Amino acid sequence: MEINVIAGDITRIKTEAIIVSFFEGMVCPDGDLAVIDQALDGAISQLIGQGEIKGKLNEVTIVHSLGKLPAARVVVVGLGKKEELSLDRVRMAAGEACRLLQQREISYAATVALGAGVAGIGLDGVAQAVTEGALLGVYSFRRHMTKEAEHGELKRLTIVEADKTKLPILQQGSDKGRVLAEATKLARDMVNEPANYMTPSHMAETAASLAKDYGLELQVLEREQMQKLGMGALFGVTQGSRQPPKFIVLHYRGGDWAEIDLALVGKGITFDSGGISIKPSEGMQEMKGDMAGGAAVMAAITTIAQLKPKLNVVAIAPCTENLPGGEALKPGDVLTAMNGKTIEIISTDAEGRLILADALGYANKLGAKRIVDVATLTGACHVALGDDCSGVFGNNQALVDKLIAASVGAGELMWQLPLYEQAKEQLKSEVADIKNVGGKWGGAITAAHFLAEFAGDTPWVHLDVAGTSLSEKSRGYVVKGATGVTVRTLVNLALSLAK
Ligand code: BES
Ligand code: MN
Ligand code: ZN
Repeated sequence: MEINVIAGDITRIKTEAIIVSFFEGMVCPDGDLAVIDQALDGAISQLIGQGEIKGKLNEVTIVHSLGKLPAARVVVVGLGKKEELSLDRVRMAAGEACRLLQQREISYAATVALGAGVAGIGLDGVAQAVTEGALLGVYSFRRHMTKEAEHGELKRLTIVEADKTKLPILQQGSDKGRVLAEATKLARDMVNEPANYMTPSHMAETAASLAKDYGLELQVLEREQMQKLGMGALFGVTQGSRQPPKFIVLHYRGGDWAEIDLALVGKGITFDSGGISIKPSEGMQEMKGDMAGGAAVMAAITTIAQLKPKLNVVAIAPCTENLPGGEALKPGDVLTAMNGKTIEIISTDAEGRLILADALGYANKLGAKRIVDVATLTGACHVALGDDCSGVFGNNQALVDKLIAASVGAGELMWQLPLYEQAKEQLKSEVADIKNVGGKWGGAITAAHFLAEFAGDTPWVHLDVAGTSLSEKSRGYVVKGATGVTVRTLVNLALSLAK
């Protein structure tokens, strides 16, 4: 979809649909909507009076102009209460409106800087949010559909601004929004892709093409190199699968110093059957998305490479399948991780923390100053925080706070969970330094405690996205299937850490 920014008057634009907003609790239209209402002989006021337009967030009402305006339709989108307006609500409303227009076979639409000036919301932020919302809201994954879609595509959204001097700032915001939305779509595509396509090798091929397109340095470690580096925990998980594992490392250099300011580590299990501790078959197809963390860090670093902040970032994605082949890892086995710690395997289904143990070890070996990992790690986190909120853990409160601040800008809900000492007891093993599963309760916390052992003293944040990487429904700019969660948060974090 093309998104352009032009000077003009939204009420005089000739197009298939103009999108304008309305706040909940207001009794009559104002601004552009008042002009439109007048042209439509009071149709909008009437709909408001009758309670059909309430202005609730994501409410979309389509009114045909029947020749009374240059635009064929007026689309009134609710932004919720005025005093509660946020950029994420703008993003949501833009996504909802654009998806509905696309379903209605509309190809060309125009809008304004929805909500700008309210609650201190700036024009650049609005242009960015509208662009992100529109591009993400109309997203679909049709790569394996041989039949054409039931509807066409929304081809162009024009953002119209009355004040010509504001165009550069709008354009800047929109450009940034496009880069972030495209990266989020890339992560969604990778997660939605079936596991017979998105193998570890395919992840590595994707990394190679991204490295080429965005000027990143790429290393892919093969099985032998993993073994040589002593990545016994990762190696254990790879054993049950015939697909060759790939350990992907992408470097972005924005600073002329050698140190790595930020390592982004993402879980890259391209399919999680559970291994010998096999999962129940119901819903197992969702485990094709168990590489969402890996996809997120790869997508984030391509965005970072385009926005060029002054810092050095590395994205690390350990990729393998978790299958129960004849040589598979077994409960009771003991593995030695790269940092020398031994791990007793209780469940082969707690494989994410094993591959991350060595990826964290590798990030430490590179001397990373900070580490953030992203993983679809525990069903327990999904139970604790629900569908819309990711879990945050960390060993350094300042970094946790920075990460959470970055997530607010992205509109991605995150909530910090505690790493209290008592839970660590659950990981004591009789035969090794640590076991890979604790007891029945607090599973997201014990998983994070396990990772903390391998993050060591490096400031580290862990994001558990088991509940948020997929969405069961479409709402606003979130569509059913992969969400691409954390891509925009990670980019915001890198921007905030830049010199
Ligand atoms: N990939 C799963 C976690 C998961 C579950 C992600 C559902 C998305 C949706 C992870 O590898 C796993 O199997 N975790 C186990 C851990 C348990 C064996 C301690 C879990 O959460 O049940
Ligand atoms: Mn598992
Ligand atoms: Zn898993």
